[in-house]
Amino acid sequence: MTTQLFVRRIRDGDGATLRAIRLLALAEDSAAFATTLETADTYGDDLWAERAATASAGGERVVFVAEVNGTVEAMAGAYVREDETFATLYGMWAASELRGSGIADALVGAIETWGTKTGLERIQLCYYEHNALAVRFHTRLGYRTTEDTLARSAPISDMDAN
Ligand SMILES: CC(C)(COP(=O)(O)OP(=O)(O)OC[C@H]1O[C@@H](n2cnc3c(N)ncnc32)[C@H](O)[C@@H]1OP(=O)(O)O)[C@@H](O)C(=O)NCCC(=O)NCCS
Repeated sequence: MTTQLFVRRIRDGDGATLRAIRLLALAEDSAAFATTLETADTYGDDLWAERAATASAGGERVVFVAEVNGTVEAMAGAYVREDETFATLYGMWAASELRGSGIADALVGAIETWGTKTGLERIQLCYYEHNALAVRFHTRLGYRTTEDTLARSAPISDMDAN
């Protein structure tokens, strides 16, 4: 069977899709993310619907997903904080069978294109130092480590606004 793979922005009405891919990512790679599966699993359908709607249009938030034969198997999101000239990448995840395929590159590329169109100056990402896969991936794409260390002092509900 021919594999059909494409990257698209999340759509208004994609709340259930967003929930499914995010929960899968948190279940399979919990060590990569600040949010826990237990926390995300408590979010109601309305919240997922609102997140999908907000990320589906405009220049403040975005989520791109990758579909393989009609099933969403990878995602990446970004958001701009108030008064900032950059977006923070979050929720980058690809199903294990897609790793090394270039799909993660395509998702980051989609976010970078969105950022350029939105007038942003740069994309920031935060990762755990123990996450060697993420470090190698982002380094290969040209991202460089800065001195910033994000102290996780904000309430988890705020950090998980993503
Ligand atoms: C981060 C992520 C999206 C990168 O996607 P990717 O397709 O694996 O990216 P790359 O092809 O650049 O591979 C990155 C590293 O993963 C490893 N890798 C690549 N393909 C792999 C595969 N098929 N199976 C296992 N590991 C693989 C390699 O070590 C590679 O580094 P190298 O090229 O220097 O050897 C993906 O690894 C992922 O979803 N990880 C779990 C979630 C996560 O950490 N998200 C980031 C949070 S900040």
